[in-house]
Amino acid sequence: MFADKDISKFNNIETPFYYYDTDLLQKTLQTCATAAAPFQFHIHYALKANFNQVLLQQIKDIGFGADCVSSGEVRRAVEVGFDHKKIVFAGVGKSDKEINEALDLDIFCFNVESVQELEVLNELASKKQKTAQVAIRINPNVDAHTHHNITTGLDENKFGVNSWDLPECAEMLKSCPNLKFIGIHFHIGSQITNLDVYKNLCVRVNEFAKWFEDKGFTLQILNVGGGLGIDYHNPDHQIPDFESYFKIFHEFLEVKAHQEVHFELGRALVGQSASLITRALYIKKGKKKNFVVLDAGMTELMRPALYQAYHKIENLTQTKKLETNASFVKYDIVGPICESTDCFGKEVEQPESFRGDVFAIRSAGAYGEVMASKYNLRDAIRFVYSNEV
Ligand code: LLP
Repeated sequence: MFADKDISKFNNIETPFYYYDTDLLQKTLQTCATAAAPFQFHIHYALKANFNQVLLQQIKDIGFGADCVSSGEVRRAVEVGFDHKKIVFAGVGKSDKEINEALDLDIFCFNVESVQELEVLNELASKKQKTAQVAIRINPNVDAHTHHNITTGLDENKFGVNSWDLPECAEMLKSCPNLKFIGIHFHIGSQITNLDVYKNLCVRVNEFAKWFEDKGFTLQILNVGGGLGIDYHNPDHQIPDFESYFKIFHEFLEVKAHQEVHFELGRALVGQSASLITRALYIKKGKKKNFVVLDAGMTELMRPALYQAYHKIENLTQTKKLETNASFVKYDIVGPICESTDCFGKEVEQPESFRGDVFAIRSAGAYGEVMASKYNLRDAIRFVYSNEV
């Protein structure tokens, strides 16, 4: 919930902007760290969810590592001060330049996604007379039961090494003197709310770990990726249930004494800690439809246009006055961009809205700011931090 003092502060700030609640982020990080501690689980924060430096600073300070998907993210993590020995680098298409940069920065581990990538990494490491630590990202063919656009662990997805390629992968690992194989990596998808999915993942991880150990390899790391979802419908239930999530892995994963379990969480850590704050520019009342036209659009928050993702929309100005019998109207809540998909919600019931009303589009901390674009030559997105206003 927004406090009244926040709402009145917003009145004087130029919109649109991302409002980051740094106190909530701190609470979320602390809750996650506390839930992981009894099991000695290692958390890497997935920078792709949000690489805003103020947030990264807080995440680094709690002691988490960094999961990166480009050399830009690796550099950002190093700049912010993440320990290079806690940086992992995944990605199905790492370029030679990116691999070289990550080798120079002595990162902890490359999560390798194909047999050919092993060959290239070995060659580039040997030119630098270095040994690269690698984990093999395996595609476990586990259905994440989430939106098909954010499922990654099925046979038809491009990510990871498929099980039928593992024998070739094992041979390659044996023949690459500049690679040190340290573990296996998985990531089956994002915004996973049915935790049973993770039980299925554990079963598969145990099978693959046994497969490698039977072949004489020692696995030091079991990296199970991220994907824990958040409640977009109830953004005020802000902190995800990290305890239940970690308990599943504690219960179902077979972890040997010499092994570490690694996680790569993005959305669950940062998702609820931001809202996109925007103003109604125009109200259009029609015969069939009513529209609220906001000053933020898909260029600021792309998820609804791209995945038909739901974000709760609140008219903060009118919600304040709701005690006095406000009338409700169904609106399509749209942005100013020249695309019909530039719509944050269809037929959304709202108190009757007026030009100038301030709206919050909630749960926008993950895959919001980072996916903003300049389409239509829009101004760069602004931010406001709760501890600054
Ligand atoms: N590890 C790997 C290898 C990943 O590919 C991802 C996300 C994560 C970890 C973090 O997943 P999370 O805990 O945040 O679910 N843009 C989409 C989400 C794409 C997720 C890509 N991979 C969205 O807005 O829903």
